[in-house]
Amino acid sequence: MTEKDAVNTIEHAVDVLEGGGLVAFPTETVYGLGADANNPQAIESIYAAKGRPSHHPVIVHIAKPADLWRWVTTDQLSQVLAQRLSDAFWPGPLTLICRRDPSVPAAVSGGQDTIGVRCPAHPVAQALLNAFAHRRGNERSGIAAPSANRFGQVSPTRRQHVVHEFTDRVAAGMPVLEGGNSAVGIESTIVDVSRVNQGQGVVLLRPGGIDAQAIEAIIGEPLQAPNDQAPRVSGSLKAHYAPHTPLQLLDVATLSSVSSHDRQAVVLRACELERLPTAMRNQSNITIVTMPDDPLPYAQALYARLRDLDQDGFTKLVWINVPPGQAWDAIRDRLTRAAAAFES
Ligand code: TXA
Ligand code: MG
Repeated sequence: MTEKDAVNTIEHAVDVLEGGGLVAFPTETVYGLGADANNPQAIESIYAAKGRPSHHPVIVHIAKPADLWRWVTTDQLSQVLAQRLSDAFWPGPLTLICRRDPSVPAAVSGGQDTIGVRCPAHPVAQALLNAFAHRRGNERSGIAAPSANRFGQVSPTRRQHVVHEFTDRVAAGMPVLEGGNSAVGIESTIVDVSRVNQGQGVVLLRPGGIDAQAIEAIIGEPLQAPNDQAPRVSGSLKAHYAPHTPLQLLDVATLSSVSSHDRQAVVLRACELERLPTAMRNQSNITIVTMPDDPLPYAQALYARLRDLDQDGFTKLVWINVPPGQAWDAIRDRLTRAAAAFES
């Protein structure tokens, strides 16, 4: 076993978590930067590593769906809904926002009275969560983890992305568990059931790996949009998930010309290539980059493509927006926020 491999075993990762340290691990959505969810100081160190404001809540990842009840307190209505949703979608890319049990450190919630909980499906995440739970015996256990990127940046979907983002910490021995390419590729869908008894309904805070329609089919009512009282979600900041290279989001129908000065990438689905004006296809300063035609492979490729293009020295990424329709909601959401970072 090489030195690198020794640092990246599940058992060593559990040692690090127990000691209050940070461990990066794969999930089916994106890689997470994890700490012991029962240790407020360890949670603080996530904020420091990410450069993230400390009033932003993080998601607690649990080994099995039934562990949810150790982290939350529920009224009857939200309990029924949370149970139905966890039965339908866990383990998987859904995060439930419930009221936080008073015994849970406020640090995981950025001081809010709610808590986000998810049971991920990725086998390495499962192995880590189970090993950590095993070590804890009967105590409540969970791993608090935001996406393993610096605040506001593109989420990681490959181990290498995490290493690139946290070079210093990795050099200093932070474990980064290998889990291949994230199968979903964008973050979990976040649904708030914490205020259903106040007539707020079930609120969709962030579209993601699970379609809103599938959730509505399980709860038997439409999802609501967040209002002023909705909990803060940094992933729903207007500008987020941004690359360093300016990104402009355009519709293929309105794309008539791109300036001839700078080296630019035009990114669009392969099936839309023929809609691109011929002149543009022959413009020497333009590199045409194709994305998959369908939402699932598109989501899988999205963040890796953004990171790669960011390394290529383009002055601008002209990104052709995805089609209308719910199947594309989560992707459109991420692209819109990435582009918003460059709007003045
Ligand atoms: O797929 C995912 O959700 C990934 C993987 C690692 O699980 N995690 C992730 O974490 O995307 P993060 O921190 O980058 O985004 C989590 C979002 C944030 O926007 C945060 O504000 C929101 O979840 N959140 C967490 N707890 C919350 C709470 N109690 N109330 C409202 N929003 C919450
Ligand atoms: Mg994030």
